[in-house]
Amino acid sequence: MSVTILAIESSCDETAAAVVKDGREVKSNIIYSQIELHKLYGGVVPEIASRKHVEKINQVITAAVDEAEVTWDDIDAVAVTYGPGLVGALLVGVSAAKAIAYAKHKPLVGVNHIEGHIAANYIENSDLKPPFMCMVASGGHSHLVYVKDYTSFEIVGRTRDDAAGEAFDKVARAIGLGYPGGPKVDKLAREGNPSAIAFPRAFMEDAPYDFSFSGLKSAVLNYLNGCEMKDIEVNKADVAASFQQAVVDVLTTGSVRAAKEYGCEYLALAGGVASNSLLRKELETACKENSIQFFYPSPVYCTDNAAMIGVAGYHDYVAGVRGGLNLNAVPNLKIGERLG
Ligand code: KG4
Ligand code: ZN
Repeated sequence: MSVTILAIESSCDETAAAVVKDGREVKSNIIYSQIELHKLYGGVVPEIASRKHVEKINQVITAAVDEAEVTWDDIDAVAVTYGPGLVGALLVGVSAAKAIAYAKHKPLVGVNHIEGHIAANYIENSDLKPPFMCMVASGGHSHLVYVKDYTSFEIVGRTRDDAAGEAFDKVARAIGLGYPGGPKVDKLAREGNPSAIAFPRAFMEDAPYDFSFSGLKSAVLNYLNGCEMKDIEVNKADVAASFQQAVVDVLTTGSVRAAKEYGCEYLALAGGVASNSLLRKELETACKENSIQFFYPSPVYCTDNAAMIGVAGYHDYVAGVRGGLNLNAVPNLKIGERLG
């Protein structure tokens, strides 16, 4: 039996809705990005994000249903991100989904945003099936996750401090590239020398799959301050390239080592940082050397989007997950945790 899901995502600064059939076929994927609005402040302003979501959510949902050329009768369930994320932002999507579920008599499915990022890999890669290792690296989260089954996860490693994307954004700000920094560092790094500056790579002795990026970030800031004090001109491209190489080395080493230890045939990449060109390239090479098949989503499915929520929501729906009309936003929802 075929299942069509209307999915809604509003956990951070993208207002998004999508229609997804049978967990792989994206019929529509509408994203309203608020980046231009938040750029002015150098990062996401939660209150502004919530207000913009309220303004845009109905338009985005209508556009997703129209573009998919489906009627409300064709939709089997409404899936919505209920955590983790910004509470005010999440509440807008959750309220909209509950209103639709109630008015149109549809089942409601609450979806974990990070599980959505992982599920983005299923959209274009029909070969990819659990079990596999997934490196989730975004602006808010960095996790190494063993995907045991479509709805069953084990956290193998996590960041001790900053998320990988957050480190990219902070370093970008320090060298004057603006927000969001990841894509800008990625681009500038192509003109720089990745071994120009020896920035530290933090490998945890006691937890080999955990990451830490705050020491690296401080090292970049110290380097920039040192140059300023000694009146040395900073080569920004070299800083970008050397910083990026340090992040990529740590993420690549950890994820390939974990995939091998867990005996995984597949390794997948997810989250905003999964768009990083060096990370993709180095993981591709490392996976080849270790006979692991490597998967990653297209950039449109790496950043926050609702199609990935429709895919994760499909698997949750099939597994019998249902949210009541008391479903609430859970800002610090953990991977694999089910609430509401
Ligand atoms: O997954 P995402 O859209 O939002 C969260 O759930 O956090 O990730 C956004 C993050 C930002 O920190 C952004 O700078 C980073 O992903 N990012 C990148 C690249 N594109 C986006 N980081 C490195 N290289 C990129 N090409
Ligand atoms: Zn995200």
